[in-house]
Amino acid sequence: MRLCFLVEEQYRYDGMPVDVIRQLTAWGHRVDVLRPGSSLIRLSEEVRSGRHDAWVLKTVSGGPGLTLLEGAAAVGLTTVNDARSIRGVRDKALAAVLAEARGLPVPATYAAVLAEEFAALPADAYPLVVKPADGSSGRAVRLVPDPGHLVEAAPEISADGMLIAQSYVPNSGVDLKVYCVDGEFYATERRSPLHPDHPVRERQVPLTAEVAAIAAEVGAVYGLDLYGVDVVFGPEGPVVVDVNDFPSFRQVPDAVTKVAWAVLRLAGAEGRTPGGRPAAPVTVGGGA
Ligand SMILES: Nc1ncnc2c1ncn2[C@@H]1O[C@H](COP(=O)(O)OP(=O)(O)O)[C@@H](O)[C@H]1O
Ligand SMILES: [Mg+2]
Repeated sequence: MRLCFLVEEQYRYDGMPVDVIRQLTAWGHRVDVLRPGSSLIRLSEEVRSGRHDAWVLKTVSGGPGLTLLEGAAAVGLTTVNDARSIRGVRDKALAAVLAEARGLPVPATYAAVLAEEFAALPADAYPLVVKPADGSSGRAVRLVPDPGHLVEAAPEISADGMLIAQSYVPNSGVDLKVYCVDGEFYATERRSPLHPDHPVRERQVPLTAEVAAIAAEVGAVYGLDLYGVDVVFGPEGPVVVDVNDFPSFRQVPDAVTKVAWAVLRLAGAEGRTPGGRPAAPVTVGGGA
């Protein structure tokens, strides 16, 4: 197969996706890498040439990569994950609407461009977690304990786009990162960035049927194939606070092989063994 990976600067040296690319290459597949954050992209040539069986996105939220992936999808190329599904989770405001509409267990969510607007919320909505709608990796996520702190902190809280505020789900300080690859679910415990002093050893843990069912429902709601769900355990049980396309898969056994295999399968190599015959050239809708 011939694949095109869009990789942002931040992940240039990360095992995910670098080792996956290496594995695919070792199996005999051809992988081209585009770095949308740091190179000139010959848009029409790259997207319309139809040289690739699939495009794969491993970029940060808000980065330029998703636009390119959407371009590839628009001319009929296969993308991993589906480009519209990625949009559905990378905008946390949109993700919240979809989650609520489909009955996923999520905190009450509010959106505003200026943090000052959250002052209109009643005192019992606090503590609030305020985060950029296009955030990732814990960037600029902050806990606002009460309305007084909001007034104080609001001038420092800024985002280029939209902010969201969620009711804080009281929890022990441990996140459960649930990863889905090739229809299988794995769970890793990790310290919550809102509880930096809480001692937590990052480790793989068994997944309960309840959380596995929620994670499966998340995949169905957003239409994602390769994804992660951040779950915290509140007084009423598990709550989904974030969904990520192509996450780190930390602590997942044989993650590189599993992800590489899943990419091939999603790219259309179903039924073939790794290293199998390369795909015949694809015909691209929209012309090459
Ligand atoms: N509503 C919430 N209640 C409790 N903890 C939260 C909430 N929202 C976020 N967190 C904590 O903050 C972390 C980062 O927030 P998240 O929404 O996952 O943003 P990011 O996209 O930056 O990962 C989560 O993993 C979780 O530990
Ligand atoms: Mg997160």
